[in-house]
Parts: sequence; structure tokens; C-alpha cells
Amino acid sequence: MSDTVDPRNRMNELTNRQWLIETKSFWRSQAEDDLPEWLDPELLEQFALWLADKHGEERAGEMMGQVAGSVMWSKAPPRDKLKATHPATFSERDIERLIRLFTKPGQIVLDPFVGSGSTLLACAGTDRIGIGIELIDQWVEVAQGRLEARGIAHRLVAPEEAAEAARAGTHALVHSDAGSGLRALPGECADFIVTSPPYWRILQKRGSKAERERVSKGLPTHYSESEADLGNLADYDEFLERLGDIFVECGRVLRVKQYMCVIVCDFRHGPQFHLYHADIARIIEERSPAMQLKGMTVLVQDSKNLYPLGIPYCFIGNIHHQFILIFQRMD
Ligand SMILES: C[S@@+](CC[C@H](N)C(=O)[O-])C[C@H]1O[C@@H](n2cnc3c(N)ncnc32)[C@H](O)[C@@H]1O
Repeated sequence: MSDTVDPRNRMNELTNRQWLIETKSFWRSQAEDDLPEWLDPELLEQFALWLADKHGEERAGEMMGQVAGSVMWSKAPPRDKLKATHPATFSERDIERLIRLFTKPGQIVLDPFVGSGSTLLACAGTDRIGIGIELIDQWVEVAQGRLEARGIAHRLVAPEEAAEAARAGTHALVHSDAGSGLRALPGECADFIVTSPPYWRILQKRGSKAERERVSKGLPTHYSESEADLGNLADYDEFLERLGDIFVECGRVLRVKQYMCVIVCDFRHGPQFHLYHADIARIIEERSPAMQLKGMTVLVQDSKNLYPLGIPYCFIGNIHHQFILIFQRMD
């Protein structure tokens, strides 16, 4: 990219490279770099070293990150080969962090859209027991393969057996539609729910660089062709309603006073920018009055590819963060 202002640029005085940086969907506040005068940087460094000594470097990094408020830097190590076949996964490391925040060892964690099994792996990594539901055969097989590769004991069970298996200490994988799978679970059987639902039909979008890269590697670009796959619904409002039905069931199977984290990012569809996180928050609160939104953490994904979208003609942002919507079941 050139270091001079592009002659086609009618919008600003930035070089294309400078513009690219500004399209990230999160910016670090300048104030974060300029520490207040009274805060001695050496003292801060000593504090970081003390934390590292006490809790190990990784945990200390996370703790220092929390000094900066509701921002979490996503830790996404390279995906294993099986996981990379799934087009939209989250990082086990981020989920482990949430599980540690919202549960105690031995408790039951549910993910109604478990995909490649990340939540079950995160449960195994934190001594919790997972129940994961997934509709599509291919992703159930991927989840099983990933659990087996790590020697994690688990069972593929019918929905009505899942809670029992988890109570007996075995991770349970359920091959089912999320709605009917959840309806087969007893009330208040989960201590925590963490999930990332389908993003309507954005994976059906053709022609993006990310899509071309996956096609060139022979990897699937969307979940499935199944009609029951929520990622294939044509109408956004209908999609939100169907998701609402599933979250009503989530509210029923979650124990009272326990938490549910829904991880989503906003997206563009054609010319329209959808505040998906806000739509989900609204639909959950409308449909499940007992589920109260308690807060939101921004999950920064700084390691994602930065694409020169729109440059040098117009603004199109690179969405480099997700929202973790945090709900609590009140009664
Ligand atoms: C965003 S992905 C979740 C990925 C997962 N967090 C991971 O790390 O692998 C959403 C998943 O929901 C699944 N899905 C779509 N419709 C579903 C339904 N009706 N019931 C259950 N799962 C469904 C898709 O196949 C996809 O694997």
C-alpha cells in the first residue's frame, strides 16, 4: 500500500495504510497509552511482575488486562485441523476464562450450538462437565474427533439422557436440533450456559476474501444445507423469533441465579449494518423476562486479518470485536 494519499480519496487526508488501521471496530483510547502522572510506570511493572510470580504469566496478563475495564483481549491459539474445518468457531481459551468466572469445578455447562465442540473442550480443561447440542452430522463428528484426539471421555447421547450423563460426570454430546434437544432436558439442570448462535445467513455471503480463502483450501464456507439450520433462514425477523424460542428454553434449563453468556458480533448484510448483539439482547429479555441482562464484555480479536474494505472510496469497518452478553436468571 502506498504511503501517499490516494488520488481517488475524497474523504480524508489519510494514506491507505493509515485508513486501514482506522477501520478496526475497536480503538484503544489514547488515555490508556498516556498513563496518569501519579501512576508510576515502574510500580505498575513491579505489580505485573508480582502478579506473574503469584499466578503465572498467562493469568497475570489477563489480570492486567482487567485493569482496563470491560475489555478482554481474545486469546485464540492456532486452530487444530479438525476445528479449522468449521467456518465459525470461538476460542477454548476465552471460554475457559468465562467458565472460571461463572462456575465452580464439577458444575454443568451447556452450549446449545456446540459446533466443533469448543465448549466441551473448555469444560474438560477446567474440570467442569459439558453438555453440547449440535444439529449437523459433520460438526458432531468433528466435535467427537476433537474430544477423542485429546483423550477426553464423553458420550454421544439422546437429549433425554444428557443431564443424567452430565450429573454422572461424563461430557455429553447431543446430535439434535437445539430447540427439541433443550425441550428434552429437565428444568434447572445447567449451572452456566455459554454459546455462540448462528449469525443469520451471513456465511452464505459470496465473494468475500475470507470466503475465497476457504474455498481455495477446500473448506466449508457455511454450516450446512439443512432447512433446520438457523443459518439458512431467509428472513431476519423470523430468524430472531426462532432464536428467541431457543433462548426461552435456555432460561428454563438454567438454574435460578446462574448466568448465560451469548457471544456474538454485529454484521453487515448488503448496505445494512445489523446490531445483532442488540437484537439478541432485546429478544431474550422480551421472551424470557426472568433472564436479565447484567452486562457486556467486549472481546477484542486483534489478530484477525485486516482487509482494505471500501478504501479509498468510502468507510467500511473491519469488525474486530465480539460482544459477550451476560444474562442472569433472576427467578
Ligand atoms: C457459531 S457456530 C458455533 C461454533 C462453536 N462455538 C465452535 O466453537 O465450534 C453455530 C452452530 O450452530 C449450529 N446450528 C445451526 N442451527 C442449529 C439448530 N437448529 N440446532 C442446533 N445447532 C444448530 C451450526 O451447525 C453451527 O455449528
